[in-house]
Amino acid sequence: MKVTLSCLSGAVLYFVTKELVKMMDPTRREDEQNVNKSAIMKRIVDLRGKQVLQRIGKLNAYELRLFGDLVFPDQISTDFEDIGGLLDQKKLIRETVLKPLMDSCEGKEESGSKLFSAPSGVLLYGPPGTGKTMIAKAIAKGSGAVFLNIKASSVQDKWYGESTKIARAIFSLAIKLAPAIIFIDEIDSFLRERGGLTDHEVSSALKAEFLALWDGLLSDSPDYQNGSVLILGATNRPSDIDEAFLRRLSRRFKFDLPSLSDRIEILKAILSKESDCKVDVDEIAQKTEGYSGSDLRELCRMGTMIAEQDAVSGSTPRVLRTTHVIRALEHIVPASKFKQQNRSRETTLRVTL
Ligand SMILES: Nc1ncnc2c1ncn2[C@@H]1O[C@H](COP(=O)(O)OP(=O)(O)O)[C@@H](O)[C@H]1O
Ligand SMILES: [Mg+2]
Repeated sequence: MKVTLSCLSGAVLYFVTKELVKMMDPTRREDEQNVNKSAIMKRIVDLRGKQVLQRIGKLNAYELRLFGDLVFPDQISTDFEDIGGLLDQKKLIRETVLKPLMDSCEGKEESGSKLFSAPSGVLLYGPPGTGKTMIAKAIAKGSGAVFLNIKASSVQDKWYGESTKIARAIFSLAIKLAPAIIFIDEIDSFLRERGGLTDHEVSSALKAEFLALWDGLLSDSPDYQNGSVLILGATNRPSDIDEAFLRRLSRRFKFDLPSLSDRIEILKAILSKESDCKVDVDEIAQKTEGYSGSDLRELCRMGTMIAEQDAVSGSTPRVLRTTHVIRALEHIVPASKFKQQNRSRETTLRVTL
């Protein structure tokens, strides 16, 4: 009887401990969510061929956890042609970023010089809605590189030591799947040192790890296949980026609010998808100074809704006309002006108080 009881309590203890350990495992949730692991492995093999399996070897839990952040070139619909204006940026990015990455995707030998390889760090900066993410996607699609879309939240883990393991996994996975782009949107908020003591400690350990891994990409080690892993950062606040990061983001491209001629091109690009469209893009471009690309997209969307209302009330087919987009102007305030308006309202409030 005694033996049975102790066996039973031993078994209970074993299962309770096992469940507790499982609950405490920070990778548990992601592991369970990772139902599409085999579908993603299939995509990888389709893209890089069966020989990639040898290079990949056994993936660890942290690398698998990043599977959800992987985007493959055939899943991206943005081409360089969809991006209106930004002629200088597109030309330079094609020559200095896309071309070397494409060469490394095609397995072409670099011409003996590292100067021909893709830079390991590229920064896209400028106001929101000016096409930075679009360009990043177009680079991934055009080059055939795997796109690892990293969010600050997926790296900053509350578990001590976890963040550095995730950082290591980002690089090891990118190297295994190379050519690859590690895309960090809002890179200014990534690794920003935050308030509390623990945050600060985690953040500086993570920063040091990340920088060491990044420097590894620049090293001569054949493991790193120089130039085939690109870190691409985008930000609206370049001045907030950590100094050490900024130094490594050696190629920087500025994205401004679009000029008149750029607005014409952006409107053409946005409206090219609208089947019945009779919009004078020159006239709209004249009236939209200060509008970003995404403001222009919202404007066209609003115009289409107004056109739809007209079509329903007149029982006619929907045709998007210049007047619809002009009426939409009343509803869509460009983000830049909205901010200014609110800032002056805030100042007025403060003065009144
Ligand atoms: N140059 C552009 N040409 C066409 N559409 C644009 C352009 N810039 C922005 N857009 C539109 O605005 C949206 C947001 O752009 P995005 O690239 O995400 O801006 P950012 O990353 O600079 O904040 C895009 O999905 C697109 O519809
Ligand atoms: Mg963006």
